[in-house]
Amino acid sequence: MPQGKKIILGVTGSIAAYKSALLTRLLVKSGAEVQIVMTDAAKEFITPLTLSTLSNKPVLSSFWTDRQSGKWNSHVDLGLWADLFLIAPASAHTMAKMANGFCDNLLSAIYLSARCPVMLAPAMDVDMFHHESTRENIGKLKQRNHYILPSGTGELASGLIGEGRMAEPEEIMDHITNFFSPIRRFENKKVLITAGPTRESIDPVRYISNHSSGKMGYALAEAFASEGAEVILVSGPVEVKPQNQKIVLHSVNSAEEMYNACLQEHAGADIAVLAAAVADYRPAITAPEKIKKSGSHLEIELIATPDIAMELGKQKKPHQRHIGFALETENELENARSKKSRKNFDLIVLNSLKTPGAGFGTDTNQVTLIGKNDVVETFPLKSKSEVAKDIVNAVAELL
Ligand code: C5P
Repeated sequence: MPQGKKIILGVTGSIAAYKSALLTRLLVKSGAEVQIVMTDAAKEFITPLTLSTLSNKPVLSSFWTDRQSGKWNSHVDLGLWADLFLIAPASAHTMAKMANGFCDNLLSAIYLSARCPVMLAPAMDVDMFHHESTRENIGKLKQRNHYILPSGTGELASGLIGEGRMAEPEEIMDHITNFFSPIRRFENKKVLITAGPTRESIDPVRYISNHSSGKMGYALAEAFASEGAEVILVSGPVEVKPQNQKIVLHSVNSAEEMYNACLQEHAGADIAVLAAAVADYRPAITAPEKIKKSGSHLEIELIATPDIAMELGKQKKPHQRHIGFALETENELENARSKKSRKNFDLIVLNSLKTPGAGFGTDTNQVTLIGKNDVVETFPLKSKSEVAKDIVNAVAELL
């Protein structure tokens, strides 16, 4: 818990600044002492009065408290005072300044003076987020060992859909709590995770695949890594990227490639989480040249791909634990239970297709866990990172 910790919360100019009010409230409630530092642009989005009331302290944004008498806010004192410098939201502009050492306001001067760890929750529109210059700046800040919190994907204030949403205040709180009192139940454990779809080539330009976004598998990779695990993430083609540097990524395309990568890693793993949506069938023959259009029908013969979970299940050693996923459209529980036993899983995660917001592509999921002795536990709809924590807790109980 951040109880008794001194935290500077830097608020910069982004519409996500409205979430800083809740974040301040949560920090204060957890017992932290919070000093808000706002940029001028941030004041266009949320008033200093809101944040000073919630933090029980005057908000600082300029060097001067009284220009006439020369009373000022010392960025050096503030930088030395804090146990953590959190910037949420961190705009593209502020991150660019931080990355390059610009120092034209109180917030950036504190950044240059601070000796404490720095945590940023980026927030901006999708194209700004993916712009090469923003990527470079974030890369520089990561190299300085600053904590860059993962941004969410979804609807943005502009109406565009994509990456760049600020992490939710509750998620930021989890990162801060973990930062001050890390729970490391998976220290010295190696976790193999499969994620995303596979692509099965029909010819050099076409393939069979599915809508898996990989978000659930990646959220699990982050959750295990944040608790000290060494994570091997074998992933099909997805948009998401791992954030934690402890995650080793093996990018693959086909089920066959995923199978081979998993076989290599499985013997050394303590835990295997099979979250990938592996294609069950692939074209029997991949045409060497692009198939030409001819006639009104085209038949493609499909043959089964290796069932990775099943094969690894056969090789499972007594100390190893396997976690699988199931997505059923009928007799959900019964089918998931039988899959658990057939594939030798210790725990199976049943994804609901019936709950709006759950399943492929979304940032949320609603799951039922079937664990030891087939005990069933159903969870409400949550963000995928929250669902990942529930799954990680259940895995910790299995060990
Ligand atoms: O049989 P079904 O595809 O529904 O089983 C789902 C579980 O099996 C998931 O954990 C999935 O990752 C895994 N699986 C696999 N290899 C396959 C097919 C499924 O690892 N070829």
